[in-house]
Amino acid sequence: MTTIPIGLAGLGTVGAGVFHHLRENRALIGERLGVGFDVRRIAVRDLAKPRDADVPVELLTSRAMDLLDDPEIRIVVELMGGLELARSFVCEAIRRGKLVVTGNKALLAGHGAEIFSLAAERKVPVLFEAAVAGGIPIIKTLREALIGNHIQSIHAILNGTSNYILTRMTESGLGFEAALAEAQQLGYAEADPTLDVSGWDAAHKAIILASLAYGFWVRGDEVLVEGITGITAADIRFADGLGYRIKHLAMIKADPDGTIEVRLHPTLIPKSHVLASVGGPFNALAVRGDVVGDTLFYGRGAGRAPTASAVIADLCEAAILLESPRRFYGFTPHGLYRACKPQDEVVSAYYLRLCVEDKPGVLARVATVLGNHTVGISSVVQPESHENEAAALVLMIHDAPLGRVRQALEGIAALDCVKAAPVLLRVESFSAA
Ligand code: NAP
Ligand code: HSE
Repeated sequence: MTTIPIGLAGLGTVGAGVFHHLRENRALIGERLGVGFDVRRIAVRDLAKPRDADVPVELLTSRAMDLLDDPEIRIVVELMGGLELARSFVCEAIRRGKLVVTGNKALLAGHGAEIFSLAAERKVPVLFEAAVAGGIPIIKTLREALIGNHIQSIHAILNGTSNYILTRMTESGLGFEAALAEAQQLGYAEADPTLDVSGWDAAHKAIILASLAYGFWVRGDEVLVEGITGITAADIRFADGLGYRIKHLAMIKADPDGTIEVRLHPTLIPKSHVLASVGGPFNALAVRGDVVGDTLFYGRGAGRAPTASAVIADLCEAAILLESPRRFYGFTPHGLYRACKPQDEVVSAYYLRLCVEDKPGVLARVATVLGNHTVGISSVVQPESHENEAAALVLMIHDAPLGRVRQALEGIAALDCVKAAPVLLRVESFSAA
């Protein structure tokens, strides 16, 4: 398989995630794309800093421009953060015809007009999925999936750190500073966390979204920005009592007169609204288009792996633009997975409702059948029945393969104390696979 030489500028939270997951999923990416990636050079600030053992030290340089001087490197990934070096690095990469992937929202919010006009002039793609909402593919969605829509509004939670802090203050009564320290430790916060809590990190993302949606670059001084630093435990309690959650909400709306509004501030959201339940480092965007109507996007908005996922998607798009033999295919067959699991082997938890005679020994007979098929009961509910009436018996069943549960159900249905066909529903806990 051919490989595309790439340069990685930055090996911090996100850069190290990209390096790691590119390696981990090399076979899958290669099968899907038809080409692989070869990380040729990595720029860091401090060459002496300890790194993960799998990073070859000979790839490291403290001069980001070395990546641009290597004529073989065709795609550069900017994950250094900051403004001035990132700006000159990205602009020079475009001038030299290297495709650019960046997660730097501050850079695009401040210099997007300059960067994209240079990119258009030189016909060089600049991709930036990781710049907004971490792992949620909202940039591709706005650019491609919703291309036929006027975007009427976007309501969004866009800063993982602020959302994490508000969630910890609400659910665990943690203080602001302690919650921020946790978010920093988990890799959610910016190098300068005042960007997060002042609302400006989310504002950079909102500027990118609004510019993409409405086709002109919104300036920072046109955006109303308030952060979460003034929110106290008392506000959270009062809002709770009134039926609200406090969220740092970005609102982008178009007016029929052709103007748009972009604002971000702590906002009381009714607890019944779906955005009120978005907790921790998660982000969510409710996007309304004139054709599609309401859509909702949810996922991890910050952190090493989700952001790496977005960067890798951009790298793959860049590779497709360059040379992938798969570029025209909507579906790519590959041999990394085998088959669908037979249904009887699929494991789930269950709710089982029976209609039984209300007499001694019935529960024991049902439990025996389940036990004989190694199906465990996690709880039992039996509402009191009236004289001569059949009783409802509800059993919550631990995770079990469907085949065993089906066999047990056949045995239960055949019991003379069971008066109607058993009702079996799945219980989903949404835990990771
Ligand atoms: P980070 O952990 O601070 O990493 C920055 C990396 O860039 C480090 O490896 C650093 O080198 C290197 N670097 C900094 N200045 C440099 C210079 N002058 N020359 C060469 N290398 C330099 O930052 P991060 O959290 O990964 O974020 C990177 C970018 O992604 C930022 O634009 C951020 O806004 C964006 N982003 C972050 C997240 C997230 O969840 N963290 C999510 C989405 C987007 P050393 O390792 O030697 O210090
Ligand atoms: N610091 C950012 C956040 C990282 O907390 O959302 C993701 O852009």
